[in-house]
Amino acid sequence: MILEKSIEGSLLLQAHDLIVDVLEHGDAAVDATLGNGHDTLFLARCVGRAGKVFGFDVQQAAVGNAGKRLDDAGVDSCCYALFCESHADMALHITTKVKAVMFNLGYLPGGDKKIITQAHSTVAALSAAIESLSCGGILTVMCYPGHDGGADEADLVTNFVDELDEEDWRVTRYNRAEARASTPYLWTILNVSQKNGQPPSEG
Ligand SMILES: C[S@@+](CC[C@H](N)C(=O)[O-])C[C@H]1O[C@@H](n2cnc3c(N)ncnc32)[C@H](O)[C@@H]1O
Repeated sequence: MILEKSIEGSLLLQAHDLIVDVLEHGDAAVDATLGNGHDTLFLARCVGRAGKVFGFDVQQAAVGNAGKRLDDAGVDSCCYALFCESHADMALHITTKVKAVMFNLGYLPGGDKKIITQAHSTVAALSAAIESLSCGGILTVMCYPGHDGGADEADLVTNFVDELDEEDWRVTRYNRAEARASTPYLWTILNVSQKNGQPPSEG
């Protein structure tokens, strides 16, 4: 069963609020779409010096922006690994279980709006992310149906989450209040499986 919630505030802040509750110092996390590195820095702060953030983007400019943001904030370079590669290939680089994965789909703000996430590689990356998430871990996906190709991508993401086994995955869709068809929305997917350990407490 997919829960739907309507919120007044920022969907990105909502994603951050939920991730803060899950991540602990020493955890591993993934920013699947580096962009300008805002989410990367957020994740790096959550996991601290003992943790590790893996980041992916197909644009070298985004990898550079994110690296600079981390550097400027004083994050030690051993606490992150950034790759100029598609998130669809994340499994090649992530050999450990991770506690949070963030996707912020679409194009690089301030960059080339023609370079956008693509439906099929997004779904391949979501499959890889699901495989890597530890019990109690969280995956967040910001969808933007308003730009060219965004609605088709969002539909494929919806098909993907529809097929997740509800015994193992707690799925919530956050909408903005008074949303239209083109309004962005957020998926959160929590691993509630008991296969790898204790299930998370209800809340
Ligand atoms: C909305 S931006 C991300 C914003 C970012 N999270 C931030 O905090 O600034 C989306 C990013 O996805 C990247 N992207 C597009 N296709 C990708 C792919 N296959 N793998 C990884 N990143 C991709 C784009 O280059 C763009 O930088």
